[in-house]
Amino acid sequence: MRVFLGVKTYQLVSRVFIHPISPPAAVRCGRAASRCVHGSSENGKHPPSMLRHLTSKIKATGPIPVAEYMREVLTNPVTGYYVKKDVLGPDGDFITSPEISQIFGELVGVWIVSEWMGAGRPGTLQLVELGPGKGSLAGDILRVFSQLRSVLGETSVSLHLVEVSPALSLVQAQNLTGTCSREAHREDDPVYRRGTTGMGTPASWYRRLEDVPAGFSIFVAHEFFDALPIHKFQKTEQGWREVMVDTDPDKPDALRFVLAPSPTLASCTLVQAGERREHVEVCAEGGVIIQQLAQRIVGDGGAALIADYGHDGTKTDTFRGFKEHQLHDVLSSPGSADLTADVDFSYLRWMAGGGVACLGPISQRTFLKNMGIDTRMQVLLRSCSDASSRKQLISSYHRLTDPADMGQRFHFFSLLHPGRLARPQHPEGLKLERKRSPAPLPVAGFSELSFS
Ligand SMILES: C[S@@+](CC[C@H](N)C(=O)[O-])C[C@H]1O[C@@H](n2cnc3c(N)ncnc32)[C@H](O)[C@@H]1O
Repeated sequence: MRVFLGVKTYQLVSRVFIHPISPPAAVRCGRAASRCVHGSSENGKHPPSMLRHLTSKIKATGPIPVAEYMREVLTNPVTGYYVKKDVLGPDGDFITSPEISQIFGELVGVWIVSEWMGAGRPGTLQLVELGPGKGSLAGDILRVFSQLRSVLGETSVSLHLVEVSPALSLVQAQNLTGTCSREAHREDDPVYRRGTTGMGTPASWYRRLEDVPAGFSIFVAHEFFDALPIHKFQKTEQGWREVMVDTDPDKPDALRFVLAPSPTLASCTLVQAGERREHVEVCAEGGVIIQQLAQRIVGDGGAALIADYGHDGTKTDTFRGFKEHQLHDVLSSPGSADLTADVDFSYLRWMAGGGVACLGPISQRTFLKNMGIDTRMQVLLRSCSDASSRKQLISSYHRLTDPADMGQRFHFFSLLHPGRLARPQHPEGLKLERKRSPAPLPVAGFSELSFS
């Protein structure tokens, strides 16, 4: 039976709790919007197909949760924002750290090798990247692996990319394997593309994390969790109410936020008891993925390195859109702009549970400095005589590390096997004081002792 949720029973949400985002230029996490039009069609005549799809859905079922709106807009298999085209880089809508400088991926590569060593140098290493964009980060990491071949020895390395976008998977395949990849014959094959990178590493593409084979893995997720759908909740005198997306009866082809008139399943289950904020965003999908990562790391060994903009359970409304490097109204021309929300690291830590060890979040600046970005910069500058390349190097260094730029806004968070931080038991027992086992290796990046 279809339940009709009359528009009048929904309370209109004025966007008072939508805080403006503060600067810098042309990075995904910043720059104030120069235009914010409200939900009108792109050509003024016909609503774009994503808007048509959403309005008919809302007319059929009533207002939809923000999470459903975000999922449809970003990853709808036909018209989703990520599914259609390559959206990253100067010609796209936003730019990310791995695209700004190769140093970023190189230092992440060093972190991975360090964690592989800390885990006792297992004979196989799966590098698993969630949401690999153009494949630049994976490419820079693999280059480090090849430079550290003498350290990795005979270790069998494989690359596993979890990517929902066919368009971006093609860009990744091109960048990582050239022409050496092919699509699966069957559409329902969980590995939808296979290939071999220029350095001979086997690469596989999956739509879902659960399809990646078990085994010792280092997981990397850069600006992945912020792209997952969030639920939004508003505290009212009647209790928590979910924010929904509705059609606007006063404006054709426009959408608006409304509050659900009564509790929804999500508002009953996702808002934590004792929550003090007036407005919260919960990324349930991110919580499920972090649980899967934690279970894999505890069961098979390995670690996860998550880098994103976010907070530790303090922020309220962070949902925003980006188009052509400018802030964009999240409800306007859906499907034409990126949608994103800050990652709540306290929620990820809570969902990871007690079985896995969590480190961070720490700022990108701290992580990169601990990983030795200053030393690496000096080496690169010494070998670079061209004035414009030097200028470019220095400018990307500042973008990545300056507190006013990406240095303070982006954070690193890690999941580790619980044994990684424990002093290993000496096989003959601790009573043999002189043979005490060595202290575990410090975790690079999260410790000042590491590479600086
Ligand atoms: C913001 S981009 C970040 C790309 C890259 N990591 C970087 O930093 O340059 C988000 C990436 O996650 C992918 N993505 C988004 N939602 C996804 C999902 N539910 N499952 C798998 N991949 C997803 C997108 O297609 C894209 O590759």
